[in-house]
Amino acid sequence: MSQTAHDLTAKPQVEVQAKESPTSVVGEQFVPPVPRISIQAFCETEDTANMLDVASHDRRLARAHVTVQMGGVDAAVAFYGDAPTPNLIIIETVLQGAAIGADLGRLAEVCDSGTKVVVIGHVNDVLLYRELMSSGVSEYLVAPLDSLSVINSIGNLYQDPEADPLGRVIAFVGAKGGVGSSTIAHNTAWSIAEGYSSDVIIADMDLPFGTAALDFNQDPPQGIAEAVLSPERLDDVLLDRLLAKCSNHVSLFAAPSSLEQVYDIDPQAFDPVLAVARKNVPNIVLDVPHIWTGWARSVLMAADDIVVTAVPDLANLRNAKNILDLLKQNRLNDRKPYILLNQVGMPKRPEIAAKDFSDALELDLVATIQFDPQLFGDAANNGQMIQEMATGSKPAETFNHLAALVTGHEQSAVMRKSILGPIFEKLKRKKG
Ligand SMILES: Nc1ncnc2c1ncn2[C@@H]1O[C@H](COP(=O)(O)OP(=O)(O)OP(=O)(O)O)[C@@H](O)[C@H]1O
Ligand SMILES: [Mg+2]
Repeated sequence: MSQTAHDLTAKPQVEVQAKESPTSVVGEQFVPPVPRISIQAFCETEDTANMLDVASHDRRLARAHVTVQMGGVDAAVAFYGDAPTPNLIIIETVLQGAAIGADLGRLAEVCDSGTKVVVIGHVNDVLLYRELMSSGVSEYLVAPLDSLSVINSIGNLYQDPEADPLGRVIAFVGAKGGVGSSTIAHNTAWSIAEGYSSDVIIADMDLPFGTAALDFNQDPPQGIAEAVLSPERLDDVLLDRLLAKCSNHVSLFAAPSSLEQVYDIDPQAFDPVLAVARKNVPNIVLDVPHIWTGWARSVLMAADDIVVTAVPDLANLRNAKNILDLLKQNRLNDRKPYILLNQVGMPKRPEIAAKDFSDALELDLVATIQFDPQLFGDAANNGQMIQEMATGSKPAETFNHLAALVTGHEQSAVMRKSILGPIFEKLKRKKG
């Protein structure tokens, strides 16, 4: 469902009155639906705020999360000083010429990488347009605008075959069975959704035994099996039908978790599913079971980021080393996988020390999570996330940290470098 002015809690927002949109036809042209992104608009004029409010109720924006508030660049800069930026910021400016670029430079300082910016201005100037586009702005639109034109422009940003796909795929896999990889995948997905108000699909790839539906207390359709077994039918509409909604921002591609069928799946069987998911959702968390089949190998190789969970024993160390070696050979231009130790400190179990584990792998651990059967057992049995049961606890903070790492917010918090960087760089050069 689209929303207006409800998602942003940190600042009071201006309620805008929905009005009839002016001419709402972009010729006879098809206006593409917008994927499940978060859009936050900061307007200067009531007319633009009203127009965006009308747009936010359009069916083509039904999957997106839209908020509209007043205050333009000033409000956006103040807001994002301590809040993560969404997939798309729409910013209205009433400035003219070069002043617009300078003003946007302030926004660049607080923008996370990956956030797109659409500027609505009041000057129709082709040179300004070119300058803004070459500086990293995704689109410059001139007011007054009608709702459908804006939706069309947003939709086209995500339809462009040349552009990077919207969705990033993060695969979670265990170095052995039962090490907690699914638990960590689900909780990290929840942290991404809650912490960044960003939509996440969890794909439970453990078709016969998956636990994601249990962990989220859902009784969903057998989404993922249907998608994998009939890839030719899979499109945006079927995707919607096959997903179970777990919360405002989390949807689940649930496994059948039954033994009626055996799944001897082709190595490339998940490719079409992931391609459709990538087009529609910013984050795709893959809960990959601990098996070694053609498809399991191929989804790991194709993921944007990989999180390997191990417990501190010798078999886990051996397997983790094999997984890391294989990934290193086959993913020369990718970031190293993240490795973490789980269930550390289990009573009476001899363990390999975290430092020795990490030295043997020649890779720093991103986290260690203590063995806490009460907390994890209660969460699993109640179908709740650790963050819900124990907000602020160490494991909850670890999941938030993992969420920041795999979404790139960890670096962003330090660097705050965005696609608007060039504007900022230019500005600094001018000042210098
Ligand atoms: N840190 C922890 N402390 C105690 N129990 C934990 C911890 N992490 C996970 N568990 C529990 O371990 C069990 C196995 O977890 P989970 O199903 O997530 O593992 P998995 O690696 O996905 O297993 P599978 O190989 O079956 O897919 C669950 O009961 C979970 O609640
Ligand atoms: Mg699992």
